[in-house]
Amino acid sequence: MTEKPRYASWTHGKLPLTELAELKRRDQKITMVTAYDFPSGRIADAAGVELVLVGDSAAMTVLGHDSTVPATMEELLILTRAVTRGAKRPLVIADMPFGSFQVSDEAAVENAVRFVKEAGADAVKLEGGGPTLSRVQAIVGAGIPVMGHVGLTPQSATMLGGFKAQGRTAEKAERLYEDALALEAAGCFAVVLEAVPAPVAARVTAELEIPTIGIGAGGGCDGQVLVWHDLLGLYEGRSPRFVKQYADLASEIERALGRYVDAVRSGAFPEEQHTYAMPDEERVQFETRLPGLAERAGQHQ
Ligand code: KIV
Repeated sequence: MTEKPRYASWTHGKLPLTELAELKRRDQKITMVTAYDFPSGRIADAAGVELVLVGDSAAMTVLGHDSTVPATMEELLILTRAVTRGAKRPLVIADMPFGSFQVSDEAAVENAVRFVKEAGADAVKLEGGGPTLSRVQAIVGAGIPVMGHVGLTPQSATMLGGFKAQGRTAEKAERLYEDALALEAAGCFAVVLEAVPAPVAARVTAELEIPTIGIGAGGGCDGQVLVWHDLLGLYEGRSPRFVKQYADLASEIERALGRYVDAVRSGAFPEEQHTYAMPDEERVQFETRLPGLAERAGQHQ
């Protein structure tokens, strides 16, 4: 049997947004990863992921805060701009930070427009159902694709009682299910399900036409997302149970830096090939142009 092509129309250039729903229809999993700078955007592109999220998780992974709440528009604009320079083929989604969409539909549209115009984002992501719906409609109405995010929404972790799995009772699962359906109706092109029991996520996925992207939501989602630093072993804080680490780059980097420190201290680095030479006659002239060099150096001591 010949394998179906993974994409109908992604031969070169940007992945068309419509291709995502097509992947869902064909039951082909979608991959998403966070990225926060030019090299991570470029590597994610080279690895073939479909979606790159410039997550407000940057507040923790890159900026060293304890939560995602302090992330600002200006910080995320700078990071998104760097990622879009590196990630050419995947769709780049900018995460709208806390405070950038909660106040009004107008402010939400204004900030979403900044991500597209100033940072080259293809889409934005907003956390929450309920009150977020009118923001989604307003942003989609302005022509900007929106990804929803329900379940554990870290920006409202305090209201949710901490970083805990959501939808674990029938009543709460029903509310989450309704929120996901409402986000689709409001115009989202996909929805992230974070820290949601697998049966609930699978049921939501079966019901929606748009793809679900899971993180701690089981294998029944249409795609998966992981945070760059968690996936690669670069985040040294406590990781949630749903994280799978595919490399231990923090140890690898520490070992490399240790070798560098030793080499500098011992004089083994730099070697001949790392230095620039100059013609002998220029060097001699240079020294003759500096009469009294030794004396002047002595005066400065
Ligand atoms: O900010 C982020 O990285 C996210 C993902 C965990 C989905 O929202």
